[in-house]
Amino acid sequence: MLRLVDPFVGAKDSYRSLVAEINAAGEERVPFTLDYPHENFAALVARLLGEARGIGIAPGWVPHSTYWLMEGDQVVGASSLRHRLTPKLRISGGHIGYSIRPSARGRGLGKAILKLTLVRAAHIGIESALLTCADANFASAAVIVANGGELEAKEYVAERGVVQRRYWVPTDS
Ligand SMILES: CC(C)(COP(=O)(O)OP(=O)(O)OC[C@H]1O[C@@H](n2cnc3c(N)ncnc32)[C@H](O)[C@@H]1OP(=O)(O)O)[C@@H](O)C(=O)NCCC(=O)NCCS
Repeated sequence: MLRLVDPFVGAKDSYRSLVAEINAAGEERVPFTLDYPHENFAALVARLLGEARGIGIAPGWVPHSTYWLMEGDQVVGASSLRHRLTPKLRISGGHIGYSIRPSARGRGLGKAILKLTLVRAAHIGIESALLTCADANFASAAVIVANGGELEAKEYVAERGVVQRRYWVPTDS
């Protein structure tokens, strides 16, 4: 059974194995919260829950919620929901970022984590969520389109050195 949950201490071993898998694959950690230190796991959970409430966030950043996708007792994915957009997030990052652990890909979990995170976005009053992905990230584009995403633009983002796609996704579909 799939569930999207707030970070919790009991997920420690599974969460660490997800991060280890992404590192072993040599991938960029998405969302960025996967970069946070997790040696002190209770401190990580407290940090993530605090940031969702606007506590301890960097100047110029907005509150953001981190969610973990659980399949049984395994963390199979992570998402980040930015509560509002900044000028920078409008260009790159958008409202939501997500990933699925490499060994769990290709069986619909990417679509599921976005769908469930869109429900959370609706709960905080976001009617249409901005999603961005690299032009060549075909899997992510497929996930976004499957959730009703409408392409707004493709543009070169100098800061990242890539062409990105920008989609708007209704949160109530
Ligand atoms: C993007 C990501 C979350 C997709 O996860 P997933 O669990 O494999 O996704 P799903 O199984 O739900 O669906 C994947 C869709 O992408 C398609 N897809 C996968 N790889 C693809 C590729 N190389 N080319 C084209 N389509 C591809 C699949 O066919 C499927 O679409 P379909 O059902 O219409 O056939 C996963 O690849 C990931 O974590 N990537 C690294 C992080 C990342 O890029 N996050 C998004 C940042 S914007």
